[in-house]
Amino acid sequence: MNSHTKLPSIPFIDVAAQRRRLGSAIDAAVARVFNHCQFILGPEVKAFEAELSAFCGAKHVVTCASGTDALVLALRAMGIGPGDAVLCPSFTFCATAEVVALVGATPVFVDVDAATFNIDPNGIAGAVAAAKRAGLKPKAIIPVDLFGLSADHGAIGAAAQAEGLLVLDDAAQGFGATYNNRRLGTFGHATATSFFPAKPLGCYGDGGAVMTDDDEIADALKSLRVHGQGSDKYNNVRIGLASRLDTVQAAILIEKLKIFPDEIDARNKVARRYNEKLADVAIVPSCPADSTSIWAQYTIRVEGGRRDAVAAALKSEGIPTAIYYPIPVHRQQAYTQYPVGKGGVAVSERLASEVISLPMHAYLDVATQDRIIDATRRALRK
Ligand SMILES: Cc1ncc(COP(=O)(O)O)c(C=O)c1O
Repeated sequence: MNSHTKLPSIPFIDVAAQRRRLGSAIDAAVARVFNHCQFILGPEVKAFEAELSAFCGAKHVVTCASGTDALVLALRAMGIGPGDAVLCPSFTFCATAEVVALVGATPVFVDVDAATFNIDPNGIAGAVAAAKRAGLKPKAIIPVDLFGLSADHGAIGAAAQAEGLLVLDDAAQGFGATYNNRRLGTFGHATATSFFPAKPLGCYGDGGAVMTDDDEIADALKSLRVHGQGSDKYNNVRIGLASRLDTVQAAILIEKLKIFPDEIDARNKVARRYNEKLADVAIVPSCPADSTSIWAQYTIRVEGGRRDAVAAALKSEGIPTAIYYPIPVHRQQAYTQYPVGKGGVAVSERLASEVISLPMHAYLDVATQDRIIDATRRALRK
């Protein structure tokens, strides 16, 4: 037994620390909603949508009940359905591919880049060819800004244009990050994000939003989230969903958005320090010159089959870790029937066996960072 086992466990993500910082501002925001009682699409929803639009630069923001719904609504608004192929990475959370199947289309998996964990634009043409071979119509691509790092939107946009694909950015983990100094929310035809509590901009339950500059997509989204309503809610022009962001959650998010830029800075400071102190013992994450990350996760790679031992060693010192993601989506039971692009997804498979994420949030003080860094160095040197 070593001396570190006596230290208390630290949280992987400390939602409570942010709650303490925001304190009475959240209580007052929630109380305002409880007083006016407009729980569905109340004034805070509209206000939050306007503030999010100003924050990211998208012309329209349409909030909804979750990040998954945001992707479903966006695909539906783009007219994606049966017979269509939608390209997406296999190294992602299952929801990215799940939504494609939910709207009746077919996900086609593209490999990722080992350095960024994001979809490799060089795999797009091969995936389009695989989709056509399978008798499908390639219609769209869903890049993911995985772990908070902006995908290579310039190259993805160019390849998508060459292949005639619509682009739906899955920024559930990356909203707040930038590409070429522009915030996510403004790339492709639409962007979806999630306000799941553990996300960098999370609420106190489920929530999501779609951002777009396209007026027609925005109109369709507003209709789809209220049962496909037309001129009023008893005039239904589409098959839709009941998918609204609760007014209470919007009120909470308004308060959280105020401190979000400051939290992004704090996350970047933690990530920089981790990188400095761990680069000689692990493969640490990096940001390409044109991209920034909001570090939804801080994920290193451990080669040589030592990952489980590293996780166990850290756990014994009270430091939680997480594996995002141990099985790439194309290998999940529900997804093995779907095509993989030409060239395969070897990088996704390798990453799934090497990645391990360390605690990351905006309230990690230097002493706790040092504890994590020292324990990680010890674990990696064993
Ligand atoms: C990449 C990605 N896409 C989509 C989602 C779905 O978001 P939600 O959990 O809000 O439905 C998540 C959430 O975990 C995610 O990480």
